[in-house]
Amino acid sequence: MSVNQNDYNKGGMITFVLSMGVSLLVLIYTAFLNGGVDLKEVAPPSAQPAGQTQAAAEAPIDVSGVKEPWVESEQMAKAGKQIYAQNCAMCHGAEGKGDGVAGASLNPKPRNLVEGKWLKGGDRLGLMLVLENGIPGSSMQSYKAALKVNQRWALTHFIRSITQNKVADDDAVVAQKAPSLQ
Ligand code: HEC
Repeated sequence: MSVNQNDYNKGGMITFVLSMGVSLLVLIYTAFLNGGVDLKEVAPPSAQPAGQTQAAAEAPIDVSGVKEPWVESEQMAKAGKQIYAQNCAMCHGAEGKGDGVAGASLNPKPRNLVEGKWLKGGDRLGLMLVLENGIPGSSMQSYKAALKVNQRWALTHFIRSITQNKVADDDAVVAQKAPSLQ
């Protein structure tokens, strides 16, 4: 009498084969059919530097050909907003409230341009002089070398478009003195 090995534990063998089959199917499913865990919900860090406004993402407005840059216009203020986002927002804040990240530890603090407590007048020529000479004894430097005169005029118009203290000035006087600023 020989013992048939296949009959020895038939139930166990069937269970084993079935469980192997199921394992194999799970393996095939996870390896090839399942799309994997979606990690897209973890957003990549924004490439936009802090303090930069949306205007900077738009195509830059070229003001180099503007003939009378001292004349207020929407286009100049818009260009000024872009230049401001690139050069000034880190200190003066995205909205000009003097709360830019780079300005927090400065003394004196960057001016709140919306409030507009002006040291140098706040009229068009006064703001232009600040951009030309800076404010000695503070971290407000001269932008005469870094920015072209029309870009500085654009900044002047932008500042006057956001401030609550828009100081009145005389078109004729500005037009007369403006050409000497370069
Ligand atoms: C490194 C930081 C810093 C940057 C960048 C900077 N500023 Fe300033 N700004 C200051 C500080 C500080 C003051 C205040 C100085 C004081 O009170 O003596 C100031 C003051 C001013 C004032 C006040 C002028 C007045 O008459 O009182 C204006 C306007 C101004 N900044 C415009 C700008 C513009 C436009 C830019 C970009 C082209 C700019 N600033 C970039 C730090 C900065």
